[in-house]
Amino acid sequence: MFEHIGRAVVLLIGGSLGYIITKLLYNIFLHPLRHYPGPIAWQATRLRWVIALQRGYMHRDLLALHDKYGPIVRVAPDELSYIESRAWKDVYITGGARPGHAAIERNGIWFRKQRADEPYSIMGENEDAHARFRRAFMGAFSDKAIKDQAPLIEIYVDMMIQRFASMASSGGGSTVVDIVSWLNFLTFDISGDLSFGESFGSTESGAPHPWVEIACNFGKGIALIASLNYFAPLQKLLKYIMPAKVREKMVYHRELSTQKVRQRVQLKKERPDFVQAVLKYNDEKAEKVTSDELELNMSILVFAGSETSSTAMASVLFGLLQTPKAMKRATEEIRSAFAREGDIDVASASKLEYLTAVINEGLRLGPPSAVTVPRIVPPTGEEICGRWVPGGTYVTVNQYPSFRSTTNFGNPNAFVPERFLPKETPTPGDDLAAFNPFLAGRHVCIGQRFAWSEMRLILARLLYAFDLSWGAAPRVKDWGEQQTFIFWQKDPLLVRLTKR
Ligand code: HEM
Repeated sequence: MFEHIGRAVVLLIGGSLGYIITKLLYNIFLHPLRHYPGPIAWQATRLRWVIALQRGYMHRDLLALHDKYGPIVRVAPDELSYIESRAWKDVYITGGARPGHAAIERNGIWFRKQRADEPYSIMGENEDAHARFRRAFMGAFSDKAIKDQAPLIEIYVDMMIQRFASMASSGGGSTVVDIVSWLNFLTFDISGDLSFGESFGSTESGAPHPWVEIACNFGKGIALIASLNYFAPLQKLLKYIMPAKVREKMVYHRELSTQKVRQRVQLKKERPDFVQAVLKYNDEKAEKVTSDELELNMSILVFAGSETSSTAMASVLFGLLQTPKAMKRATEEIRSAFAREGDIDVASASKLEYLTAVINEGLRLGPPSAVTVPRIVPPTGEEICGRWVPGGTYVTVNQYPSFRSTTNFGNPNAFVPERFLPKETPTPGDDLAAFNPFLAGRHVCIGQRFAWSEMRLILARLLYAFDLSWGAAPRVKDWGEQQTFIFWQKDPLLVRLTKR
Protein backbone atom coordinates (compact mmCIF):
# COMPACT_ATOMS: atom_id res chain seq x y z
CA MET A 1 0.00 0.00 0.00
CA PHE A 2 2.69 2.52 1.15
CA GLU A 3 4.83 1.34 -1.70
CA HIS A 4 2.05 2.28 -4.19
CA ILE A 5 1.57 5.70 -2.63
CA GLY A 6 5.34 6.28 -2.66
CA ARG A 7 5.53 5.33 -6.32
CA ALA A 8 2.59 7.62 -7.18
CA VAL A 9 4.24 10.53 -5.36
CA VAL A 10 7.55 9.93 -7.16
CA LEU A 11 5.69 9.76 -10.49
CA LEU A 12 3.79 12.96 -9.70
CA ILE A 13 6.95 14.86 -8.71
CA GLY A 14 8.87 13.46 -11.68
CA GLY A 15 6.01 14.33 -14.06
CA SER A 16 5.74 17.89 -12.69
CA LEU A 17 9.48 18.41 -12.91
CA GLY A 18 9.47 17.05 -16.45
CA TYR A 19 6.65 19.44 -17.39
CA ILE A 20 8.41 22.43 -15.82
CA ILE A 21 11.74 21.68 -17.52
CA THR A 22 10.05 21.13 -20.90
CA LYS A 23 8.17 24.43 -20.50
CA LEU A 24 11.35 26.32 -19.55
CA LEU A 25 13.21 24.88 -22.55
CA TYR A 26 10.27 25.68 -24.83
CA ASN A 27 10.15 29.29 -23.58
CA ILE A 28 13.86 29.74 -24.23
CA PHE A 29 14.35 27.88 -27.51
CA LEU A 30 10.99 27.48 -29.30
CA HIS A 31 8.64 30.25 -28.12
CA PRO A 32 7.56 32.67 -30.90
CA LEU A 33 9.15 35.52 -28.88
CA ARG A 34 12.53 33.74 -28.64
CA HIS A 35 14.21 36.20 -31.04
CA TYR A 36 13.48 39.20 -28.81
CA PRO A 37 16.40 40.05 -26.48
CA GLY A 38 16.27 39.65 -22.72
CA PRO A 39 17.94 37.76 -19.87
CA ILE A 40 17.36 34.00 -19.85
CA ALA A 41 15.97 33.98 -16.28
CA TRP A 42 13.20 36.43 -17.32
CA GLN A 43 12.51 34.72 -20.65
CA ALA A 44 12.25 31.22 -19.23
CA THR A 45 9.59 31.85 -16.57
CA ARG A 46 7.28 34.58 -15.27
CA LEU A 47 8.75 33.93 -11.81
CA ARG A 48 11.66 36.36 -12.22
CA TRP A 49 9.23 39.14 -13.18
CA VAL A 50 7.06 38.36 -10.14
CA ILE A 51 10.11 38.53 -7.85
CA ALA A 52 11.02 41.97 -9.28
CA LEU A 53 7.45 43.20 -8.80
CA GLN A 54 7.23 41.93 -5.23
CA ARG A 55 10.60 43.44 -4.31
CA GLY A 56 9.24 46.85 -5.30
CA TYR A 57 12.05 47.74 -7.68
CA MET A 58 10.53 46.64 -10.98
CA HIS A 59 10.97 50.17 -12.37
CA ARG A 60 14.73 50.07 -11.78
CA ASP A 61 15.11 46.49 -12.96
CA LEU A 62 13.35 47.42 -16.19
CA LEU A 63 15.64 50.41 -16.70
CA ALA A 64 18.71 48.19 -16.19
CA LEU A 65 17.30 45.64 -18.66
CA HIS A 66 16.63 48.28 -21.32
CA ASP A 67 20.11 49.77 -20.76
CA LYS A 68 21.59 46.35 -21.43
CA TYR A 69 19.29 44.83 -24.08
CA GLY A 70 17.93 47.87 -25.97
CA PRO A 71 14.54 49.48 -26.61
CA ILE A 72 12.53 46.23 -26.71
CA VAL A 73 13.09 43.63 -24.00
CA ARG A 74 11.39 40.28 -23.41
CA VAL A 75 10.71 40.59 -19.67
CA ALA A 76 8.65 37.39 -19.29
CA PRO A 77 7.98 34.41 -21.59
CA ASP A 78 4.93 36.24 -22.99
CA GLU A 79 5.69 39.93 -22.32
CA LEU A 80 7.61 42.66 -24.14
CA SER A 81 8.60 45.98 -22.58
CA TYR A 82 9.13 48.99 -24.89
CA ILE A 83 10.71 52.42 -24.35
CA GLU A 84 10.77 53.88 -27.89
CA SER A 85 8.52 56.83 -28.74
CA ARG A 86 6.94 55.05 -31.70
CA ALA A 87 5.82 52.23 -29.40
CA TRP A 88 3.39 54.69 -27.76
CA LYS A 89 1.68 55.08 -31.10
CA ASP A 90 1.73 51.40 -32.05
CA VAL A 91 0.51 50.07 -28.69
CA TYR A 92 -1.93 52.71 -27.48
CA ILE A 93 -3.05 54.70 -30.53
CA THR A 94 -2.90 52.91 -33.89
CA GLY A 95 -2.89 49.33 -32.54
CA GLY A 96 -6.31 48.10 -33.66
CA ALA A 97 -7.15 51.34 -35.48
CA ARG A 98 -6.13 49.93 -38.86
CA PRO A 99 -8.84 48.27 -40.98
CA GLY A 100 -9.19 44.60 -40.11
CA HIS A 101 -7.13 44.91 -36.92
CA ALA A 102 -8.52 44.23 -33.46
CA ALA A 103 -7.53 46.63 -30.66
CA ILE A 104 -4.62 46.04 -28.34
CA GLU A 105 -6.67 45.98 -25.15
CA ARG A 106 -6.14 46.25 -21.45
CA ASN A 107 -6.03 42.79 -19.95
CA GLY A 108 -7.71 41.47 -16.84
CA ILE A 109 -4.52 40.52 -15.03
CA TRP A 110 -4.21 43.72 -13.02
CA PHE A 111 -7.80 44.82 -12.54
CA ARG A 112 -9.72 41.56 -12.76
CA LYS A 113 -13.22 41.49 -11.32
CA GLN A 114 -13.18 39.87 -7.90
CA ARG A 115 -16.74 38.52 -8.23
CA ALA A 116 -18.68 37.50 -11.34
CA ASP A 117 -21.54 39.88 -10.46
CA GLU A 118 -19.19 42.85 -9.91
CA PRO A 119 -19.62 45.55 -12.59
CA TYR A 120 -16.74 46.62 -14.84
CA SER A 121 -14.97 49.88 -14.12
CA ILE A 122 -13.39 52.58 -16.28
CA MET A 123 -10.03 50.90 -15.46
CA GLY A 124 -11.30 47.43 -16.39
CA GLU A 125 -10.61 45.30 -19.44
CA ASN A 126 -14.07 45.44 -21.02
CA GLU A 127 -13.64 47.98 -23.81
CA ASP A 128 -17.38 48.49 -24.47
CA ALA A 129 -18.03 49.31 -20.81
CA HIS A 130 -14.93 51.49 -20.81
CA ALA A 131 -16.13 53.51 -23.81
CA ARG A 132 -19.55 54.02 -22.18
CA PHE A 133 -17.95 55.18 -18.90
CA ARG A 134 -15.68 57.56 -20.78
CA ARG A 135 -18.65 59.13 -22.53
CA ALA A 136 -20.52 59.46 -19.24
CA PHE A 137 -17.60 60.93 -17.27
CA MET A 138 -16.30 63.21 -20.02
CA GLY A 139 -18.66 66.02 -18.95
CA ALA A 140 -16.83 66.19 -15.60
CA PHE A 141 -13.53 67.01 -17.31
CA SER A 142 -14.48 69.52 -20.01
CA ASP A 143 -12.98 73.04 -19.96
CA LYS A 144 -16.25 74.38 -18.60
CA ALA A 145 -16.44 71.74 -15.87
CA ILE A 146 -12.89 72.52 -14.74
CA LYS A 147 -13.71 76.23 -14.68
CA ASP A 148 -16.75 75.47 -12.52
CA GLN A 149 -14.73 73.20 -10.21
CA ALA A 150 -11.91 75.75 -9.77
CA PRO A 151 -13.45 77.65 -6.80
CA LEU A 152 -13.84 74.37 -4.94
CA ILE A 153 -10.20 73.40 -5.52
CA GLU A 154 -9.14 76.89 -4.41
CA ILE A 155 -10.99 76.56 -1.07
CA TYR A 156 -8.88 73.54 -0.06
CA VAL A 157 -5.63 75.04 -1.30
CA ASP A 158 -6.39 78.20 0.72
CA MET A 159 -7.04 76.05 3.75
CA MET A 160 -3.67 74.29 3.48
CA ILE A 161 -1.72 77.51 2.90
CA GLN A 162 -3.44 79.19 5.86
CA ARG A 163 -2.67 76.21 8.10
CA PHE A 164 0.98 76.35 7.05
CA ALA A 165 1.03 80.13 7.65
CA SER A 166 -0.31 79.79 11.17
CA MET A 167 2.09 76.89 11.92
CA ALA A 168 4.97 79.07 10.67
CA SER A 169 3.78 82.02 12.78
CA SER A 170 3.74 79.86 15.91
CA GLY A 171 7.22 78.58 14.99
CA GLY A 172 8.76 82.09 14.81
CA GLY A 173 8.38 82.45 11.01
CA SER A 174 9.01 78.91 9.85
CA THR A 175 7.76 75.36 10.27
CA VAL A 176 8.75 71.88 9.12
CA VAL A 177 6.07 69.71 7.48
CA ASP A 178 6.01 66.31 5.85
CA ILE A 179 4.89 67.61 2.49
CA VAL A 180 4.16 64.10 1.17
CA SER A 181 1.44 63.64 3.81
CA TRP A 182 0.03 67.14 3.32
CA LEU A 183 -0.20 66.77 -0.45
CA ASN A 184 -2.10 63.54 0.14
CA PHE A 185 -4.45 65.25 2.60
CA LEU A 186 -5.10 68.03 0.14
CA THR A 187 -5.56 66.04 -3.07
CA PHE A 188 -7.73 63.40 -1.37
CA ASP A 189 -9.89 66.14 0.15
CA ILE A 190 -10.37 67.79 -3.24
CA SER A 191 -11.02 64.47 -4.93
CA GLY A 192 -13.35 63.34 -2.11
CA ASP A 193 -15.38 66.52 -2.39
CA LEU A 194 -15.75 66.16 -6.16
CA SER A 195 -16.52 62.43 -5.95
CA PHE A 196 -18.51 62.03 -2.73
CA GLY A 197 -19.80 65.54 -2.13
CA GLU A 198 -17.68 65.90 1.02
CA SER A 199 -13.98 65.92 1.82
CA PHE A 200 -12.16 63.57 4.18
CA GLY A 201 -11.48 66.52 6.51
CA SER A 202 -7.71 65.86 6.46
CA THR A 203 -6.52 69.31 5.39
CA GLU A 204 -8.48 70.80 8.25
CA SER A 205 -7.45 68.23 10.88
CA GLY A 206 -3.89 67.65 9.61
CA ALA A 207 -4.46 63.90 9.99
CA PRO A 208 -5.08 61.11 7.46
CA HIS A 209 -8.53 59.55 7.11
CA PRO A 210 -8.51 55.73 7.58
CA TRP A 211 -10.15 55.28 4.14
CA VAL A 212 -7.25 57.14 2.51
CA GLU A 213 -4.61 55.21 4.47
CA ILE A 214 -6.14 51.93 3.36
CA ALA A 215 -6.43 53.08 -0.26
CA CYS A 216 -2.77 54.12 -0.31
CA ASN A 217 -1.74 50.61 0.76
CA PHE A 218 -3.72 48.95 -2.02
CA GLY A 219 -0.75 49.02 -4.40
CA LYS A 220 0.94 46.04 -2.74
CA GLY A 221 -2.35 44.11 -2.76
CA ILE A 222 -2.97 44.79 -6.47
CA ALA A 223 0.62 43.75 -7.26
CA LEU A 224 0.12 40.50 -5.33
CA ILE A 225 -3.17 39.74 -7.06
CA ALA A 226 -1.61 40.46 -10.47
CA SER A 227 1.31 38.14 -9.67
CA LEU A 228 -1.06 35.30 -8.73
CA ASN A 229 -3.32 35.96 -11.74
CA TYR A 230 -0.42 35.06 -14.04
CA PHE A 231 -0.33 31.60 -12.43
CA ALA A 232 -4.05 30.73 -12.70
CA PRO A 233 -5.67 28.92 -10.88
CA LEU A 234 -3.36 29.97 -7.99
CA GLN A 235 -5.34 33.22 -7.57
CA LYS A 236 -8.14 31.11 -6.06
CA LEU A 237 -5.88 30.61 -3.03
CA LEU A 238 -5.92 34.36 -2.38
CA LYS A 239 -8.98 34.28 -0.19
CA TYR A 240 -7.30 31.63 2.01
CA ILE A 241 -3.93 33.38 2.32
CA MET A 242 -5.27 36.92 2.78
CA PRO A 243 -5.15 37.85 6.50
CA ALA A 244 -8.60 38.53 8.05
CA LYS A 245 -7.52 42.08 8.95
CA VAL A 246 -6.74 42.94 5.34
CA ARG A 247 -10.08 41.48 4.21
CA GLU A 248 -11.91 43.54 6.86
CA LYS A 249 -10.16 46.71 5.67
CA MET A 250 -11.13 46.01 2.05
CA VAL A 251 -14.76 45.50 3.05
CA TYR A 252 -14.72 48.73 5.11
CA HIS A 253 -13.18 50.62 2.20
CA ARG A 254 -15.78 49.41 -0.29
CA GLU A 255 -18.72 49.92 2.09
CA LEU A 256 -17.69 53.46 2.97
CA SER A 257 -17.26 54.40 -0.71
CA THR A 258 -20.69 52.97 -1.53
CA GLN A 259 -22.31 54.77 1.38
CA LYS A 260 -20.66 58.08 0.45
CA VAL A 261 -21.70 57.85 -3.22
CA ARG A 262 -25.28 57.03 -2.17
CA GLN A 263 -25.31 60.08 0.15
CA ARG A 264 -23.99 62.24 -2.67
CA VAL A 265 -26.65 61.01 -5.10
CA GLN A 266 -29.31 61.86 -2.49
CA LEU A 267 -28.10 65.49 -2.36
CA LYS A 268 -30.63 67.42 -4.36
CA LYS A 269 -28.55 70.57 -4.93
CA GLU A 270 -26.52 71.08 -8.11
CA ARG A 271 -22.76 70.92 -7.63
CA PRO A 272 -20.15 70.94 -10.39
CA ASP A 273 -18.71 67.56 -9.40
CA PHE A 274 -17.94 64.21 -11.02
CA VAL A 275 -21.22 62.57 -9.91
CA GLN A 276 -23.34 65.37 -11.31
CA ALA A 277 -21.79 64.88 -14.75
CA VAL A 278 -22.87 61.22 -14.74
CA LEU A 279 -26.36 61.94 -13.38
CA LYS A 280 -26.82 64.52 -16.14
CA TYR A 281 -25.60 62.00 -18.72
CA ASN A 282 -28.10 59.42 -17.43
CA ASP A 283 -30.90 61.99 -17.70
CA GLU A 284 -30.06 63.00 -21.24
CA LYS A 285 -28.88 59.81 -22.96
CA ALA A 286 -30.44 56.47 -23.78
CA GLU A 287 -27.45 54.50 -22.44
CA LYS A 288 -27.02 54.62 -18.66
CA VAL A 289 -24.46 54.11 -15.91
CA THR A 290 -26.10 51.93 -13.24
CA SER A 291 -25.90 52.74 -9.52
CA ASP A 292 -23.50 49.79 -8.98
CA GLU A 293 -21.27 51.01 -11.78
CA LEU A 294 -21.32 54.59 -10.48
CA GLU A 295 -20.40 53.43 -6.96
CA LEU A 296 -17.47 51.33 -8.18
CA ASN A 297 -16.19 53.99 -10.56
CA MET A 298 -16.31 56.74 -7.97
CA SER A 299 -14.21 54.69 -5.53
CA ILE A 300 -11.64 54.37 -8.33
CA LEU A 301 -11.85 57.97 -9.47
CA VAL A 302 -11.36 59.40 -6.00
CA PHE A 303 -8.08 57.52 -5.82
CA ALA A 304 -6.94 57.94 -9.45
CA GLY A 305 -7.52 61.68 -9.07
CA SER A 306 -5.49 62.18 -5.92
CA GLU A 307 -2.63 59.75 -5.32
CA THR A 308 -1.31 60.49 -8.82
CA SER A 309 -1.29 64.30 -8.49
CA SER A 310 0.14 64.20 -4.97
CA THR A 311 2.95 61.89 -6.11
CA ALA A 312 3.72 64.14 -9.07
CA MET A 313 3.91 67.24 -6.86
CA ALA A 314 6.09 65.45 -4.30
CA SER A 315 8.46 64.48 -7.11
CA VAL A 316 8.45 68.09 -8.38
CA LEU A 317 9.31 69.45 -4.92
CA PHE A 318 11.99 66.79 -4.47
CA GLY A 319 13.57 67.92 -7.75
CA LEU A 320 13.31 71.62 -6.88
CA LEU A 321 14.84 71.13 -3.43
CA GLN A 322 17.72 69.15 -4.98
CA THR A 323 18.24 71.85 -7.62
CA PRO A 324 18.49 75.36 -6.07
CA LYS A 325 18.89 77.05 -9.47
CA ALA A 326 15.53 75.67 -10.64
CA MET A 327 13.90 76.48 -7.27
CA LYS A 328 15.10 80.10 -7.57
CA ARG A 329 13.84 80.50 -11.12
CA ALA A 330 10.42 78.92 -10.41
CA THR A 331 9.96 81.05 -7.29
CA GLU A 332 10.98 84.24 -9.10
CA GLU A 333 8.65 83.51 -12.01
CA ILE A 334 5.66 83.10 -9.67
CA ARG A 335 6.47 86.05 -7.43
CA SER A 336 7.03 88.42 -10.32
CA ALA A 337 3.85 87.33 -12.11
CA PHE A 338 1.53 88.15 -9.19
CA ALA A 339 1.27 91.24 -7.04
CA ARG A 340 -0.81 89.45 -4.40
CA GLU A 341 -1.18 85.82 -3.37
CA GLY A 342 -4.95 86.13 -3.88
CA ASP A 343 -4.38 86.78 -7.61
CA ILE A 344 -3.17 83.22 -8.10
CA ASP A 345 -6.00 81.01 -9.21
CA VAL A 346 -6.47 78.05 -11.55
CA ALA A 347 -6.74 80.28 -14.64
CA SER A 348 -3.83 82.64 -13.90
CA ALA A 349 -1.47 79.85 -12.76
CA SER A 350 -1.86 78.13 -16.14
CA LYS A 351 0.21 80.92 -17.75
CA LEU A 352 3.38 80.13 -15.79
CA GLU A 353 5.74 78.66 -18.39
CA TYR A 354 8.67 77.72 -16.21
CA LEU A 355 6.40 76.13 -13.60
CA THR A 356 4.85 74.05 -16.38
CA ALA A 357 8.33 72.89 -17.41
CA VAL A 358 9.16 72.14 -13.75
CA ILE A 359 6.04 69.98 -13.39
CA ASN A 360 6.86 68.10 -16.58
CA GLU A 361 10.35 67.42 -15.26
CA GLY A 362 8.93 66.15 -11.95
CA LEU A 363 6.59 63.86 -13.91
CA ARG A 364 9.54 62.62 -15.96
CA LEU A 365 11.73 61.71 -12.99
CA GLY A 366 8.93 60.40 -10.76
CA PRO A 367 6.07 59.33 -13.04
CA PRO A 368 3.05 58.36 -10.90
CA SER A 369 2.42 55.46 -13.30
CA ALA A 370 6.03 54.24 -13.27
CA VAL A 371 5.35 50.67 -14.38
CA THR A 372 2.43 50.69 -16.77
CA VAL A 373 -0.35 48.10 -16.76
CA PRO A 374 0.29 45.84 -19.80
CA ARG A 375 -1.94 45.56 -22.84
CA ILE A 376 -2.55 42.29 -24.69
CA VAL A 377 -2.09 41.77 -28.43
CA PRO A 378 -5.25 40.33 -30.07
CA PRO A 379 -5.16 36.76 -31.45
CA THR A 380 -4.48 38.04 -34.99
CA GLY A 381 -1.12 39.53 -33.87
CA GLU A 382 0.15 43.07 -34.52
CA GLU A 383 3.20 44.91 -35.81
CA ILE A 384 4.87 47.02 -33.11
CA CYS A 385 7.98 49.11 -33.78
CA GLY A 386 8.37 47.41 -37.15
CA ARG A 387 8.39 43.85 -35.74
CA TRP A 388 5.68 41.23 -35.70
CA VAL A 389 4.25 40.40 -32.28
CA PRO A 390 2.12 37.25 -31.96
CA GLY A 391 -1.38 37.31 -30.45
CA GLY A 392 -1.60 36.85 -26.68
CA THR A 393 1.63 38.76 -25.98
CA TYR A 394 1.54 41.32 -23.17
CA VAL A 395 3.01 44.63 -24.34
CA THR A 396 3.81 47.76 -22.33
CA VAL A 397 5.57 51.06 -22.71
CA ASN A 398 6.99 51.34 -19.21
CA GLN A 399 7.26 54.97 -18.16
CA TYR A 400 10.14 54.94 -15.71
CA PRO A 401 12.67 53.22 -18.00
CA SER A 402 11.38 55.21 -20.98
CA PHE A 403 11.77 58.58 -19.22
CA ARG A 404 15.14 57.70 -17.67
CA SER A 405 16.80 56.11 -20.67
CA THR A 406 19.83 57.78 -22.26
CA THR A 407 18.38 56.76 -25.62
CA ASN A 408 15.48 59.19 -25.07
CA PHE A 409 16.92 61.93 -22.82
CA GLY A 410 20.28 63.60 -22.37
CA ASN A 411 21.51 63.67 -18.76
CA PRO A 412 18.37 61.66 -17.86
CA ASN A 413 18.75 61.54 -14.08
CA ALA A 414 19.22 65.30 -13.64
CA PHE A 415 16.34 67.68 -12.85
CA VAL A 416 16.50 70.01 -15.87
CA PRO A 417 13.13 71.76 -16.48
CA GLU A 418 14.70 73.73 -19.35
CA ARG A 419 14.54 70.58 -21.50
CA PHE A 420 10.80 71.32 -21.80
CA LEU A 421 11.46 74.89 -23.02
CA PRO A 422 12.27 74.46 -26.72
CA LYS A 423 14.23 77.74 -27.02
CA GLU A 424 16.66 77.02 -24.22
CA THR A 425 16.90 73.27 -23.85
CA PRO A 426 20.45 72.15 -22.99
CA THR A 427 19.55 68.67 -24.31
CA PRO A 428 18.16 69.31 -27.82
CA GLY A 429 18.31 65.61 -28.71
CA ASP A 430 15.63 64.73 -26.14
CA ASP A 431 12.84 62.65 -27.65
CA LEU A 432 9.87 64.39 -26.04
CA ALA A 433 7.48 62.09 -27.95
CA ALA A 434 8.69 59.34 -25.59
CA PHE A 435 7.27 61.32 -22.67
CA ASN A 436 3.58 60.56 -22.09
CA PRO A 437 3.01 60.53 -18.32
CA PHE A 438 -0.77 60.58 -18.85
CA LEU A 439 -0.64 57.78 -21.46
CA ALA A 440 -2.01 58.18 -25.01
CA GLY A 441 -4.93 56.90 -27.06
CA ARG A 442 -8.37 55.91 -25.89
CA HIS A 443 -7.22 55.20 -22.32
CA VAL A 444 -5.38 58.51 -21.97
CA CYS A 445 -5.93 59.96 -18.49
CA ILE A 446 -9.38 61.51 -18.41
CA GLY A 447 -8.32 63.80 -15.54
CA GLN A 448 -5.23 65.22 -17.24
CA ARG A 449 -6.47 68.82 -17.50
CA PHE A 450 -7.87 68.67 -13.98
CA ALA A 451 -4.49 67.42 -12.70
CA TRP A 452 -2.66 70.26 -14.45
CA SER A 453 -4.99 72.87 -12.94
CA GLU A 454 -4.58 71.41 -9.49
CA MET A 455 -0.81 70.97 -9.63
CA ARG A 456 -0.08 74.42 -11.03
CA LEU A 457 -2.30 76.13 -8.46
CA ILE A 458 -0.95 74.25 -5.43
CA LEU A 459 2.70 74.64 -6.37
CA ALA A 460 2.32 78.31 -7.34
CA ARG A 461 0.57 79.14 -4.06
CA LEU A 462 3.16 77.24 -2.02
CA LEU A 463 6.19 78.84 -3.70
CA TYR A 464 4.61 82.29 -3.60
CA ALA A 465 3.90 82.21 0.12
CA PHE A 466 6.98 80.38 1.45
CA ASP A 467 10.70 79.89 0.89
CA LEU A 468 11.24 76.14 0.77
CA SER A 469 14.30 74.27 2.03
CA TRP A 470 14.99 70.79 3.39
CA GLY A 471 13.66 70.27 6.93
CA ALA A 472 15.82 67.13 7.13
CA ALA A 473 17.99 65.45 4.52
CA PRO A 474 15.95 62.90 2.54
CA ARG A 475 16.86 59.21 2.85
CA VAL A 476 17.25 58.87 -0.91
CA LYS A 477 19.33 60.93 -3.31
CA ASP A 478 17.16 60.15 -6.33
CA TRP A 479 13.35 59.80 -6.40
CA GLY A 480 13.74 56.48 -8.24
CA GLU A 481 15.49 54.85 -5.26
CA GLN A 482 12.08 54.46 -3.62
CA GLN A 483 9.96 51.36 -4.11
CA THR A 484 7.01 51.09 -6.48
CA PHE A 485 4.32 48.46 -6.45
CA ILE A 486 1.59 49.92 -8.55
CA PHE A 487 2.04 53.24 -6.73
CA TRP A 488 5.19 54.74 -5.27
CA GLN A 489 5.93 53.86 -1.64
CA LYS A 490 6.88 57.42 -0.82
CA ASP A 491 9.19 58.35 2.03
CA PRO A 492 8.17 61.34 4.15
CA LEU A 493 9.68 64.57 2.74
CA LEU A 494 10.44 66.98 5.55
CA VAL A 495 10.36 70.49 4.15
CA ARG A 496 11.01 73.75 6.00
CA LEU A 497 8.52 76.46 5.04
CA THR A 498 9.68 79.97 5.86
CA LYS A 499 7.20 82.82 5.50
CA ARG A 500 8.38 85.46 3.02
C1 HEM B 1 -0.34 63.87 -12.32
C2 HEM B 1 -1.52 63.33 -12.26
C3 HEM B 1 -1.95 62.12 -13.06
C4 HEM B 1 -1.22 61.23 -13.80
C5 HEM B 1 0.27 61.22 -14.06
C6 HEM B 1 -2.16 60.28 -14.35
C7 HEM B 1 -1.81 59.22 -15.17
C8 HEM B 1 -2.71 58.34 -15.73
C9 HEM B 1 -2.35 57.25 -16.60
C10 HEM B 1 -0.94 56.89 -17.03
C11 HEM B 1 -3.49 56.62 -16.94
C12 HEM B 1 -3.63 55.40 -17.85
C13 HEM B 1 -3.64 54.13 -17.03
C14 HEM B 1 -3.68 52.92 -17.92
O1 HEM B 1 -4.62 52.77 -18.70
O2 HEM B 1 -2.75 52.11 -17.86
C15 HEM B 1 -4.58 57.31 -16.30
C16 HEM B 1 -5.90 56.95 -16.42
C17 HEM B 1 -6.91 57.54 -15.70
N1 HEM B 1 -6.81 58.64 -14.88
FE1 HEM B 1 -5.17 59.69 -14.50
N2 HEM B 1 -3.42 60.60 -13.93
C18 HEM B 1 -3.34 61.73 -13.16
C19 HEM B 1 -4.39 62.41 -12.56
C20 HEM B 1 -5.71 62.06 -12.67
C21 HEM B 1 -6.81 62.82 -12.15
C22 HEM B 1 -6.68 64.16 -11.42
C23 HEM B 1 -7.96 62.12 -12.39
C24 HEM B 1 -9.38 62.43 -12.05
C25 HEM B 1 -9.80 63.44 -11.38
C26 HEM B 1 -7.55 60.91 -13.10
C27 HEM B 1 -8.42 59.92 -13.52
C28 HEM B 1 -8.05 58.89 -14.36
C29 HEM B 1 -9.01 57.91 -14.88
C30 HEM B 1 -10.48 57.82 -14.56
C31 HEM B 1 -8.28 57.06 -15.73
C32 HEM B 1 -8.80 55.91 -16.56
C33 HEM B 1 -9.02 56.45 -17.94
C34 HEM B 1 -9.41 55.41 -18.97
O3 HEM B 1 -9.05 54.25 -18.85
O4 HEM B 1 -10.07 55.80 -19.94
N3 HEM B 1 -6.19 60.92 -13.25
N4 HEM B 1 -4.09 58.35 -15.57
